[in-house]
Amino acid sequence: MIKLAPSILSADFSRLGEEVENLEKFGADIVHIDVMDGKFVPNITFGNTIIKDIRKRCKLQFDIHLMIEEPQRFIEDFAKFGDIITIHYESDRHLDRAVNYIKSLGKKAGLAINPATPVNNIQHLIKELDLVLIMTVNPGFGGQSFIPYTLDKIKEVKALSNKYNPNLLIEVDGGISSDNIKQVIDAGANVIVAGSSVFKDNNMEANIKKLKESF
Ligand code: DX5
Ligand code: ZN
Repeated sequence: MIKLAPSILSADFSRLGEEVENLEKFGADIVHIDVMDGKFVPNITFGNTIIKDIRKRCKLQFDIHLMIEEPQRFIEDFAKFGDIITIHYESDRHLDRAVNYIKSLGKKAGLAINPATPVNNIQHLIKELDLVLIMTVNPGFGGQSFIPYTLDKIKEVKALSNKYNPNLLIEVDGGISSDNIKQVIDAGANVIVAGSSVFKDNNMEANIKKLKESF
């Protein structure tokens, strides 16, 4: 089953509670939450205090995408309100430890790879993971264009999933719209993050409907 995971990075932060309530009301499956530290990526968003407050406003799963250096410092904090905790391959030198730490806290463990990071680098971890996030743009900002070569990487992860971990969630993030959503799904993605294409024109209901109809 394909899941749509709107990224609140493109939401109106002055009414974030209402935005996540509406995501639930209008058929989103998962809430994708981008945490950025201004160091791993050249942008800063928010931390756990905000996530704690929006947690009260919606029942959907929270998928926390940590774009921060040394994420192990904060995993325990984010695990309090998150259901899936995703860290970046490029941000931690002890990934096996980090992944097992997330799982020991009873949470789903995700590993993200930047566009230039080869899928081969994570093949031994595939069995351990609940989710692989293939970045389809360079992380840091919403509204960027999809990088076409990442389609081959989705197919590579799908092949590894078939072989080693059939229940793996294969997530894509960046530049996804109704124009290319079918392509990423055909390549093997089953969790689709979408920021600007969900929140654009202040018309979340119609945008979610259109994306889901394009599956
Ligand atoms: C980018 C973030 C994305 C972002 C996607 O670093 O990880 O989740 O919100 O935004 P769009 O869908 O607009 O490319
Ligand atoms: Zn993200």
